[in-house]
Amino acid sequence: METPPTVVILAAGLGTRMKSRKAKVLHRAGGRYLIEHVLRAAQTLAPPERIFVVVGYQAAEVRAAVQTAGIGFVEQAEQKGTGHALMVAAETLSGLDKEKAGRLLILYGDGPLVRPETLKGLAAAQESCDAAGAILTAVMEDPTGYGRVLRDGNAHVMGVVEQRAGAPEQLAIREANMGLYCYRAAPFWRHIQELRPDNPAHEYYLTDMVEILHRAGHAIAAFRIDDPREVLGINDREELAAVDRLLRERKVRELMLAGVTVEKPETVTVDPDVTIGMDTVVEPFAQILGRTVIGENCRIGACSVVQDSELADEVEVGQFTIIGTSRLERGVHAGPYARLRMENHVAAGAHVGNFVELKKTRLGAGSKAMHLAYLGDSEIGAQVNVGAGTITCNYDGYRKHPTRIGAGAFIGSNSTLVAPVEVGAGAYLAAGSVITSDVPPDALGVGRARQVNKEDWARKRRELGKNR
Ligand code: UD1
Ligand code: CA
Repeated sequence: METPPTVVILAAGLGTRMKSRKAKVLHRAGGRYLIEHVLRAAQTLAPPERIFVVVGYQAAEVRAAVQTAGIGFVEQAEQKGTGHALMVAAETLSGLDKEKAGRLLILYGDGPLVRPETLKGLAAAQESCDAAGAILTAVMEDPTGYGRVLRDGNAHVMGVVEQRAGAPEQLAIREANMGLYCYRAAPFWRHIQELRPDNPAHEYYLTDMVEILHRAGHAIAAFRIDDPREVLGINDREELAAVDRLLRERKVRELMLAGVTVEKPETVTVDPDVTIGMDTVVEPFAQILGRTVIGENCRIGACSVVQDSELADEVEVGQFTIIGTSRLERGVHAGPYARLRMENHVAAGAHVGNFVELKKTRLGAGSKAMHLAYLGDSEIGAQVNVGAGTITCNYDGYRKHPTRIGAGAFIGSNSTLVAPVEVGAGAYLAAGSVITSDVPPDALGVGRARQVNKEDWARKRRELGKNR
């Protein structure tokens, strides 16, 4: 296509069959809002200033979900059908494509699987036979719910009849309207106000444009695709799950072809923007989300969740480990059962073991916190050993305070570090200490009562009990 088309994406409907208080296009599949998928496909064909989203139900939320710089919006305050959406849009858009070559690509916000190649094919189909429009169709096993494509004796497209309005012999047609159209803008806008809500649903059907243009003497082409799964429209939660599965499969297949081992791929969830390096192994039921970047030769343990994080090469994430907005350098081990909650930076070769929670903490190179610890708002140097049960008391009921631990320090088990507090490099904390003031470098900090043994105490108590 020489000049890019004007793209209109319909996203004003509630989506009654979703049984939701949320607009249908704001439901998510494959890690994105439904509308986002459609918008991305559109952006491969047209610059943002030529893309318009028709919003209505929860307009503000839908706008926010696709707030890409430069795209336009049309407000369809009352949703009286897909055709009505275009009648409303006409005010804003009909002036845009005055030249004869102007084209209009219409997409539905609830069809997230569409690929850019298909949109290009549709536009090319319209162009090649110089038709007034082309509609995307597919022959479906079970087209229930879809509009059926009506053809005349010469197989020319005459119209589309909706499920609710179709006579039995029309509903027996298996060629379905997929809801994507490429029209020449001039005839489309010239005839749009001819739509009438004369159907059982009393809606203005966009699909009636096919018949209107056909009757006015225009040819309408059908661009038939082989696999209707590519353009499934989502109407209910079952279809939402099916589309989510297809999108997930696409992503995981891409990763496998790029050299990532994915065990039991049908159980793994990877968001579309995630990247993973060669020879990394992803175990069953792992979820890798958001903008996560994972290097080569890593292992992401079964049932782990990694979100918006950066993992360098050779990182091992044990089973059931949850990592959010954190950076793990080369060779780090985390988990099993660790939680790296937010904004952590774990330097090369450090180990975070089971039931250790990190929050806004920097753990230096080669440092270890192997068991049962909470390290929050902490700055921990290299080669530090954090004993089991160590807790930073970073919150005093009003504010968060930092803890600093110098390189090479040894934090005895069950230490309680009451922040703000600093343990100097090379210092040693006695196990079970409650540390409320700074410990100088290379010192021993002891913050507990000395042990007292009372000889014979237990035996005497037992005897007392017997004689009572
Ligand atoms: C539509 C087609 C049908 C096709 C199917 C493909 C019509 C009349 N029917 O049916 O032929 O087989 O898609 O999936 O077009 N919308 C608005 N404003 C409105 C109504 C709807 O913006 O007033 C938006 C919705 O938010 C949705 C899209 O248009 O994103 C499609 O609407 P929907 O009600 O799902 O149409 P279908 O009944 O599936
Ligand atoms: Ca639909």
